[in-house]
Amino acid sequence: MLSLCIVDFNRHNAMNPLTGFSRKRASLLAIFLITVGLTGSSLANAETIAVIGTGDVARALGPEFAALGHRIVYGSRDPSQQKVIDLVAKTGHGASATTPAEAADLATIVVIAVPGMVVEAVTRGLGDLSGKIIIDPTNPLGRDDNGFFIHRVATSNAEIIQAAAPGAFVVKAFNTLDWRTMIDPELAGGPLTIPLVGDNESAKATVASLASAMGFETIDLGPLRHARYVEGMLILWINNRFVGGEPFDYHLRKTRAE
Ligand SMILES: NC(=O)c1ccc[n+]([C@@H]2O[C@H](COP(=O)([O-])OP(=O)(O)OC[C@H]3O[C@@H](n4cnc5c(N)ncnc54)[C@H](OP(=O)(O)O)[C@@H]3O)[C@@H](O)[C@H]2O)c1
Repeated sequence: MLSLCIVDFNRHNAMNPLTGFSRKRASLLAIFLITVGLTGSSLANAETIAVIGTGDVARALGPEFAALGHRIVYGSRDPSQQKVIDLVAKTGHGASATTPAEAADLATIVVIAVPGMVVEAVTRGLGDLSGKIIIDPTNPLGRDDNGFFIHRVATSNAEIIQAAAPGAFVVKAFNTLDWRTMIDPELAGGPLTIPLVGDNESAKATVASLASAMGFETIDLGPLRHARYVEGMLILWINNRFVGGEPFDYHLRKTRAE
């Protein structure tokens, strides 16, 4: 069971003076070690994670995953761009950058952090992804005639990615969060639960373990065909935030046993 928690947007953006960077890292490490111990996840070992794209989401998730001990390979259309060189340096822990297809080939986990309407072409360009876990944080956003954001595909981006890479295990994750909150879940003002959907239980458990190590709770919302509704969560949020209306944040929170 789960409940929706609706909270004031402005309050979340206030910095907590008690929350220092090093303290957060120490808590995350403890959570990671506990999670790995409980789940026996393969993430007890350092994985090579390909992050395709080098925009806001890549710049948030790449360094977070690296800080957990994983090796990051960015896949960029032009790895020689200064922004990519800077991102690799910031990420550290043996990070590198190359073409998207080569990055994916090197990795066991592939994050598709590209604009929402190019996921099919980008995924097809990555080669054979069979056996790999794909994390999909994308949202297929467009605008209608009135300027409102709309969901632009008939199914969901996660299903489009799965169809383009049938042998891979797609997990929808992180698409409901602003990139700043990916870096610091405490911006949400309390325990933050992110939805996961996917058809492979083991892949979802691996992504849950990764998210837990970053300081998130996760809730399994079922099969990949539910991705459309998880992508829809973002549509509701983004219109009030950027188009008009009263800005708000909302996050899933698991129902606690009484
Ligand atoms: N921004 C957020 O807070 C946020 C939060 C949740 C979900 N999302 C979703 O996550 C996805 C990425 O968002 P973002 O904000 O990181 O986007 P972004 O800042 O626009 O970056 C996307 C990256 O993808 C690559 N790219 C751009 N155009 C491309 C194309 N036509 N084909 C292939 N690669 C292309 C670029 O990297 P290279 O130049 O290195 O190739 C670019 O830096 C989107 O679907 C978005 O809806 C965003």
